[in-house]
Amino acid sequence: MKIVPGVASQALGARIAAELGCELVSCEFKRFPDGESYTRIIGDVEGEHVVVVQSIRSDTDLIVLLQLLDAAEGASKITAVIPYLGYARQDKRFKPGEAVSIRAIARSICFSTPALDSIYVVNVHDHAELRYFQVGVDVHVHELDASPPISDYIMKMGIAPASIVVIGPDEGAEELARAVATPYGFDYDVLEKKRLTGDEVEIKPKELSIDIEGKNIFIVDDIISTGGTIAEATKLLREQNAGDIYVACVHGLFVQNAVLRMLHAGVKELISTDTVESLFSRVSIAKLVAKELEPGLNPGFSDS
Ligand code: R5P
Repeated sequence: MKIVPGVASQALGARIAAELGCELVSCEFKRFPDGESYTRIIGDVEGEHVVVVQSIRSDTDLIVLLQLLDAAEGASKITAVIPYLGYARQDKRFKPGEAVSIRAIARSICFSTPALDSIYVVNVHDHAELRYFQVGVDVHVHELDASPPISDYIMKMGIAPASIVVIGPDEGAEELARAVATPYGFDYDVLEKKRLTGDEVEIKPKELSIDIEGKNIFIVDDIISTGGTIAEATKLLREQNAGDIYVACVHGLFVQNAVLRMLHAGVKELISTDTVESLFSRVSIAKLVAKELEPGLNPGFSDS
């Protein structure tokens, strides 16, 4: 097996290769003068099982992913690991004539190369989106759950487990909150959110099922984009006399002034995984991916 990391997933690709003890293949990425992306795999992948690791957080990332899948032509088997599947929130036609963008992307990936065998994604916004990958070609799609390494990371922070409360900022985050809380018996609950605009949300005051006064709160969410959701949730929890407020997410996009916005609202620490690589990628999903690629491995989920 050879691991080919794309521009968006260099560190994660290297970590996966280290976990598996397999070869990491370098690539050349550049742009032509007219702005088109150029991608080349440096190394021989003929007859190999090639694992392309590339998140999609920009249009260019998608092009590079498609180019890498094409460049691996000649491999005996190709696996695409797409840790962050961008465009997944554009999964329905809300107004007539709108593109269901994730469907268009799923189709382009599935038909990219006949050698494509499997696709791995991590905590997609809505599991139902995976149906767009069922396009009549024999490609297996798997969704991985990053909550175990996030739980482990929280547990290892040295905070008394009985003082930890996991909070989802909206009902859509309940499954993640439960999954993060359950392994170590942390309490959990969710808030109620109403989205006003692309970067403004309202979090409604809600009677929580748990007393959060003085507790160490971990707000968990699948994606943090503008930070608006977390900032509003933090303000509300502070008004309810919560203790320290930490934030843990799977996909930390942190666009515009998201980090400032959340810290200004009173967040003590930001934690995200390396599905999107940033300063806050404290939790690696490398072991999770490695275990899927090589089921014989016994990873334990402690982060690297
Ligand atoms: C939406 O339902 C997602 O789970 C996140 O809550 C949302 O994407 C966060 O976006 P933002 O950081 O812009 O508030």
